[in-house]
Amino acid sequence: MLESSISKSEKAPWTRARRGLCLLILVLMTGTLITVYIWSSEVSWPLNIWTKWSDQSYSNKTPSVDSIPAAEPSPFFVTYPHQYTFILDEPHRCLQESPFLVLMIPVAPHNREARDTIRNTWGKETKVLGRVINHYFLLGLNDGTETVKDQVLQESQKHHDILQSDFLDSYKNLTIKTMVMFEWLSSHCPNTSYAMKVDSDMFLNVHNLVGMLLEAPRQLYLTGQVARGAAVLRDHTSKWFLPVSAYPDPSYPPYALGLGYVFSLDLPKKILEASAHVKAVYIEDVYVGLCMRHLGIPLTDPPRGDLFQTFKPHATSDCHWTSVITTILYNSNQLSGAWGDYQTQVQSGCNCYISPCAV
Ligand SMILES: *[C@@H]1O[C@H](CO)[C@@H](O)[C@H](O)[C@H]1NC(C)=O
Ligand SMILES: *[C@@H]1O[C@H](CO)[C@@H](O)[C@H](O)[C@H]1NC(C)=O
Repeated sequence: MLESSISKSEKAPWTRARRGLCLLILVLMTGTLITVYIWSSEVSWPLNIWTKWSDQSYSNKTPSVDSIPAAEPSPFFVTYPHQYTFILDEPHRCLQESPFLVLMIPVAPHNREARDTIRNTWGKETKVLGRVINHYFLLGLNDGTETVKDQVLQESQKHHDILQSDFLDSYKNLTIKTMVMFEWLSSHCPNTSYAMKVDSDMFLNVHNLVGMLLEAPRQLYLTGQVARGAAVLRDHTSKWFLPVSAYPDPSYPPYALGLGYVFSLDLPKKILEASAHVKAVYIEDVYVGLCMRHLGIPLTDPPRGDLFQTFKPHATSDCHWTSVITTILYNSNQLSGAWGDYQTQVQSGCNCYISPCAV
């Protein structure tokens, strides 16, 4: 008892001092925090420097989407849906001519050579197996000169096969091009059965294509070289890189390779409806696949696995060009050559998908 009273009386002044010290530290810390807060919000330059530095390191390194705030535009998505307008159009041709098949060819505005080569090869085929065929070139805006603009206008007036929309034509905007293609088809071609999106550097055997379509389903039909279970490319040097943050699944749903795919004309409207619910990745063929998955519509494999060739064989067989629907080429010069070879093969009695071949 005594012991406790002594110790109590001896401890009292020490405890008071300690309490005072604690209070002082607390006041100092609170003061410092408040000062730092006010200072950093008013004098923002150190934060700006930090942001600039991190932006720089971001553009020097891999675009890591994880570090981009949600509000900023991502390089992996395009602005779609959005109201784009055709500045060069053929508003009545498809309705008036009622083609069975429409060929839609994305091409850059300056690439007149590719367009002329197509006009002189498979674009010439306006009636095959008794069916009418139209082709149209799909252009965005060129960021270049007035000269290109004037040339494209003259070309359009001469050939009536150019559709130009008002978005910037670039590789990263190809998804926009495909979506305005679907818009155009669904509003301009009410009496058309099928369309094909086909790249300008492709060989196309229109005879075999029409032959295949005459036996194909009339609705809910999309075919081409169908990729199934394709892995998402996570290597940031890849042309088709998508980070986990933009697309978490390790693989894509089935999609038809963008080099050339064919579809029935009931699909454009449905795909456009789906696009309101599916975020538009910049890889256009993958995006169409994502919309098809959203719609729950399965893709159709072509009747023969070798009809859509994704590479050009080193040595083409005697009847290569008459036996395929598409073959990828490397440039327009190759297309002129391949077209000549195709005609030689037809004349030498090679069989087409539906024989006889006719050029
Ligand atoms: C895509 O097109 C839009 C609309 O013209 C443009 O603002 C944007 O910069 C383009 N993106 C690329 C990557 O070219
Ligand atoms: C639709 O096209 C077919 C030929 O493909 C034609 O016979 C028919 O008259 C066209 N209908 C309309 C409404 O244009």
